[in-house]
Amino acid sequence: MKRFLILSGFLLVALQISAQTLQSPNGRLTMQFQLSPEGIPTYQLKFDNKVVILNSHLGIILNDQPTFDRDLTIIGLGNFENDESWQPVWGEEKVIRNHYRELAVTLQQVALPKRQMIIRFRLFNDGLGFRYEFPHQPQLLHFIVADENTEFRLAGDHKTFWIPGDYESNEYYYFTTPLSKIDAKIGHEITEIFVRSLYSPDAVQTPLMMKADNGLYINIHEANLYDFPAMQLIVDKPNLRLSAHLVPDAVGNKAYLQTPATTPWRTIIVSDKATDMLASRLILNLNDPTPITDASWIKPQKYVGIWWEMHVGMSSWNYADSFNLRLVGTNWNNLKPNGKHGATTERTMHYIDFAAEHGFDGVLVEGWNIGWEDWFGAWKEEVFDFVTPYPDFDVNYLSSYAARKGVKLIMHHETSSSVTNYERRLDTAFRFMKHYGYDAVKTGYVGWIIPRGEHHDGQWMVRHFHRVAEKAADYQIMVNMHESHRPTGQHRTWPNWLANEAARGNEFNGWSKGNPPDHETILPFTRLMGGPMDYTPGIFQVKLDYYQPDKKEQVHTTLAKQLALYVTMYSPLQMAADLPENYERFMDAFQFIKEVAVDWDESRYIEAEPGQYITIARKAKNKDHWFIGAITSEKSRVANIPLDFLDKGQAYVATVYADSPTAHYLKNPMGYIINQYIVNNMTVLKIFLAESGGCAISLSKANGKMLKTIKKYR
Ligand code: NOJ
Ligand code: CA
Repeated sequence: MKRFLILSGFLLVALQISAQTLQSPNGRLTMQFQLSPEGIPTYQLKFDNKVVILNSHLGIILNDQPTFDRDLTIIGLGNFENDESWQPVWGEEKVIRNHYRELAVTLQQVALPKRQMIIRFRLFNDGLGFRYEFPHQPQLLHFIVADENTEFRLAGDHKTFWIPGDYESNEYYYFTTPLSKIDAKIGHEITEIFVRSLYSPDAVQTPLMMKADNGLYINIHEANLYDFPAMQLIVDKPNLRLSAHLVPDAVGNKAYLQTPATTPWRTIIVSDKATDMLASRLILNLNDPTPITDASWIKPQKYVGIWWEMHVGMSSWNYADSFNLRLVGTNWNNLKPNGKHGATTERTMHYIDFAAEHGFDGVLVEGWNIGWEDWFGAWKEEVFDFVTPYPDFDVNYLSSYAARKGVKLIMHHETSSSVTNYERRLDTAFRFMKHYGYDAVKTGYVGWIIPRGEHHDGQWMVRHFHRVAEKAADYQIMVNMHESHRPTGQHRTWPNWLANEAARGNEFNGWSKGNPPDHETILPFTRLMGGPMDYTPGIFQVKLDYYQPDKKEQVHTTLAKQLALYVTMYSPLQMAADLPENYERFMDAFQFIKEVAVDWDESRYIEAEPGQYITIARKAKNKDHWFIGAITSEKSRVANIPLDFLDKGQAYVATVYADSPTAHYLKNPMGYIINQYIVNNMTVLKIFLAESGGCAISLSKANGKMLKTIKKYR
């Protein structure tokens, strides 16, 4: 049902001071818009009579006067209701409902040149989105955004899950403190992140997750970031007020726009249930439908790759050593191999064989191309050309070998953040991929950006990441971006943009103090609110002294928790990140990774508390096969899992991959047990999760023979 209400003329004079109220379709959320006596736009938000956002300012500041943050008058109001359903190309569920009520307020500057701006609010059952729109008008054509005045005034000193504000990186672990205790200076101590621009002790990044004493969960982020810088937040601690901070460009401006133009949506997701936060589709709903009409070439997939062995120091990306380069220049024929190069023809064949044998779709190979001797630290423009393999990587032979085995090679483009160089070479690089049968690429942006002075999260780079995704779509190529800006639901529009890293992945466990046990219980409430992550789970050899006796690092989970992550950490692209040799040692546990789906008909969020635990069940797309993942942080617990979503009256076999009774992420991380039970929709599974442990369950329909041989769950 859709309805319109447009008001204009003298009626609006009376509306200037009166508040405009919008209610969510289920009536639980109420948003109020008001223009202050100074002509400042303001809004507030309530969930059942509990205040989510106190009266807070809105506005955009241009770099010329007058700006759009005061001395405004209302010249139009529009109401609209939308209720539709749509089908994502891939996702956590096959049908998504987009139901909201909208209020559009047209504002005009009181002073000449009387330019106009619209603030559009959309109120859903799970939260609020609003954005600024600049209609085409002769008195506003090209303009520069100097700042954004959006505020979020909170009603309490909420428990907050935050990472420091940084123009370059999201690869931090999370801090959990009251809002008033945020101190982003701590970011300076996290030196294992190579490139950081920390700019204020009061700055944090979004998605920002909070929990109020009254039980409300509140998440602030943005949707449909396309031609604008990423939004970060400045915390005014005494006043419990957050204000938007846009990532600047090389000369200090925030955004360059031309009318008609819109900002991204600012989003506030709210619920009294943590599980509902994970079920929210608000951010996706605020993105545009895809222009891709035939999406049959876009494939959710699992992959293995020549990757972890570099992160644990067994092999190298580079073929020679950099000191070599200093002696002989860049004539590759003179470079002496270091004897550790990972991406050799032989090793790649081994991964292809392994992928083919165990049903994986792709094999990622990093370090296949020349340039790695020089790849970071130099801030150099011409590092990689993306088309020249090292002498020991026979791309021609490997592409036909992979094709014969029914496996796809996955391309790797580390750009070293020399983005001008990458853009110049992109068509050639994509044509090279197509020629050799690659249809997916992992990109990377380690290093300071070139054009020098630009930031990873600024408008210029936001446009770049979209240019890559759009051009990739033209070539029917799927993309997985590392070190990109964090996602804002853009995979609705560009479903070939399968995943991003844009957070602290499993790889940090390979060579730094790693990810604390609560990390994976926070990510779904923060970074993953915007879209899927290439987290790279599946590390079975948890302790890394296995590789070198003095290597003290380890993954901070049990082996069973690594399995559970395939379900709790939603992504249409999942890596089995460990080495084939390690999977061969634990084939019974590896079975779960082989079976688990990457695309879903539906998802059930069973238990969740940010920083503590998550239990999710998902049904594989078009299959009668359910998978469950349950994880906990450093506290052991018993996951309580009612199987009421199973078909009534049908017996299922539950294969349960759990922590052993003595498992512990530090003392015995690889202790696991696998049991099979007959269950039905009345069964409530109670499964022990060790300290930073987990449990993965595969559920398929039982046949008569199974009913006789497998025990009933009690
Ligand atoms: C950082 C990426 O996150 C990682 O996955 C990759 O292996 C290295 N860069 C090298 O490109
Ligand atoms: Ca990274």
